[in-house]
Amino acid sequence: MSTPTQHRRTSEDGRVLADPTAYADDDRLHAALTRMRAQEPVAWVDQAPYRPFWAITKHADIMAIERENNLFLSEPRPLLATAEADDVLKAQLEAGMGLRTLIHMDDPHHRKVRAIGADWFRPKAMRDLKVRVDELAKRYVDKLRDVGPECDFVTEIAVNFPLYVIMSLLGLPEEDFPRMHMLTQEMFGGDDEEFQRGKTPEDMLAVLADFFGYFAQLTASRRATPTEDLASAIANGRIDGEPLSDVDTASYYVIVASAGHDTTKDAISGGLLALIENPSELERLRQNMDLMPTAVEEMIRWTTPVKEFMRTAAEDTVVRGVPIAKGESVYLAYVSGNRDEEVFDQPFRFDISRDPNKHVAFGYGVHFCLGAALARMEMNSLYTELIPRLESIELAGEPELTATTFVGGLKHLPIRYSIK
Ligand code: HEM
Repeated sequence: MSTPTQHRRTSEDGRVLADPTAYADDDRLHAALTRMRAQEPVAWVDQAPYRPFWAITKHADIMAIERENNLFLSEPRPLLATAEADDVLKAQLEAGMGLRTLIHMDDPHHRKVRAIGADWFRPKAMRDLKVRVDELAKRYVDKLRDVGPECDFVTEIAVNFPLYVIMSLLGLPEEDFPRMHMLTQEMFGGDDEEFQRGKTPEDMLAVLADFFGYFAQLTASRRATPTEDLASAIANGRIDGEPLSDVDTASYYVIVASAGHDTTKDAISGGLLALIENPSELERLRQNMDLMPTAVEEMIRWTTPVKEFMRTAAEDTVVRGVPIAKGESVYLAYVSGNRDEEVFDQPFRFDISRDPNKHVAFGYGVHFCLGAALARMEMNSLYTELIPRLESIELAGEPELTATTFVGGLKHLPIRYSIK
């Protein structure tokens, strides 16, 4: 086994992972990741303004690390943020504020907090919700027809449909939806100038403070008058007989409200672009709608809206022969795992009947995406409504990707189409 210092040369390709603009340029990103998988699958990246990390680009390593959730912890660095933002958030948490969602937590606390919302995402709850989701899918495909023959599919449809679903599940009033949407964009689009409130960690904290302020009121109202919705389950959830702390309660809403729609928006819009760019696959789906479940799964692999999460080693350990010291962080490059040639046959081919399709777009292990079944159902409903009604579709301009290091996808998808 080699010594840690031998591996400390920063990977030139690895720098793309610490460059938000690389995620807006698929060719550049994938060229670097493909070389990394082949030549340096566990690569050291030391690139300001971030603290250094080990980039993990192989599918098998991502899964192995996520499986060992007592060795690789989510605390204190669950995702890539600038060193300054890491420090500000740490100080806020120590002061009893700041964001501490499921993705920031480790077991045993994580397991207990996750259980509070888990029932709302199980198959039975999904079956109950399906009628509403189908109804919304129809409403949005009708809207697409009405605004045609040209529109920006992202801003008109892909943003609003999942937002509407998740806000309905939470039980929020419809007049609050636009505000939640803006806050979510500001939170996840933090590296993209089009969506930024400002550039500093303080600006990010101001976004958080707005989220927290809104949800503090919601908690008070659901505790006073419980209703049949996810917001009530969170507000009245208990751990070891005690109510959730204010930070844990507000953070729960934040993760559901934000993770629940931006990700799905990216998979929906990127999925449509993949169908436009692969007309034979679109035709194949139209001719055989039974392929919808595998088509949806392929759209999720193809787009991989969540680019990364991180873990930090609780002990000295080794990944693929490379020593990782206690306290060092690993970056799980889901985008790379989902193009791993060792797992996927022709990984750069968009194949709506791909089976098996063991992608890691929803992560793996104890943090596996809580909303995976909901995201799949939403996409299934929307495309089941759309495809048979879609008579023609083409690009009406250049699609544009969001600059990000975390959650992202298309921010604009101009299309020209005809719909029944
Ligand atoms: C295509 C859409 C989506 C993608 C690609 C996605 C992806 C992910 C990923 C990669 C993780 C982290 C998993 C890990 O660390 O192993 C995650 C966690 C999570 N997701 Fe999703 N997600 C999507 C949709 C949703 C939806 C609709 C919800 C609804 C509320 C949701 C809620 C959550 C929550 C609460 C967690 C934290 C789970 C935990 O840490 O225990 N996600 N998601």
